[in-house]
Amino acid sequence: MSGQQHWDDVDDYFISTLSPDDEALRAALRDSDAAGLPAIAVTAAQGKFLQLLAQLQGARNILEIGTLGGYSTIWLARALPEDGRLISLEYSAKHAEVAVRNIARAGLDRIAEVRVGPALESLPKLADENPAPFDLVFIDADKVNNPHYVEWALRLTRAGSVIVLDNVVRGGRVADAGNTEPDVVGTRAALELIANHPRLTGTALQTVGSKGYDGFALARVLG
Ligand code: SAH
Ligand code: DHB
Ligand code: MG
Repeated sequence: MSGQQHWDDVDDYFISTLSPDDEALRAALRDSDAAGLPAIAVTAAQGKFLQLLAQLQGARNILEIGTLGGYSTIWLARALPEDGRLISLEYSAKHAEVAVRNIARAGLDRIAEVRVGPALESLPKLADENPAPFDLVFIDADKVNNPHYVEWALRLTRAGSVIVLDNVVRGGRVADAGNTEPDVVGTRAALELIANHPRLTGTALQTVGSKGYDGFALARVLG
């Protein structure tokens, strides 16, 4: 059996045992697929992991950068109390439209809001609203802008907030200091910012699973 076959089988087992999906989550993936969105949402195991992190944080306010069809949004929003709030930023009007329907079907439209546009335009507008600090920020959009997203996350959070950065492995290329691909450069810059910023501490973990070989970074905002 190949590595990927093992990873699929074990993810299937972990997910069916510990983080089973339900009709709203399945429908979100089905409709995303039917609308032609790429199949790059987090897995159910990763979605549950994000949800647990949000619960561990006692999160009331969550910021997501990169909505796609709202699959990760649903996992995260389900961690919030009824008066909690999730804001998800999405570049593509088409993705956002699919996501809004998926979020509504999951009964989360009073909690989760999708804002359309380039995140680097939506973030300053959001900051102008002086929102309550976000307890968790999930960064999962265009990787080239990762350092800018970490900077914005810092401005919009509080001491104790958590920042999660998805897809930091880039097929292993992240370890190549000479690589000039924008996604690798952006991801390395974000990791170095986490390493060097006085108000951030973090780590990164490699993962395998049904999405292949990947990984995420986790950072904590300090006082
Ligand atoms: N978090 C989702 C997956 C997001 S995929 C999930 O796990 O379910 C990445 C998304 O980021 C795509 O929908 C893409 O359109 C969006 N994106 C890309 N560039 C962006 C930008 N500059 N601003 C906001 N969103 C962007
Ligand atoms: C891609 C983006 C993601 O956020 C992800 O989790 C997997 C793949 C991509 O752009 O290929
Ligand atoms: Mg991702």
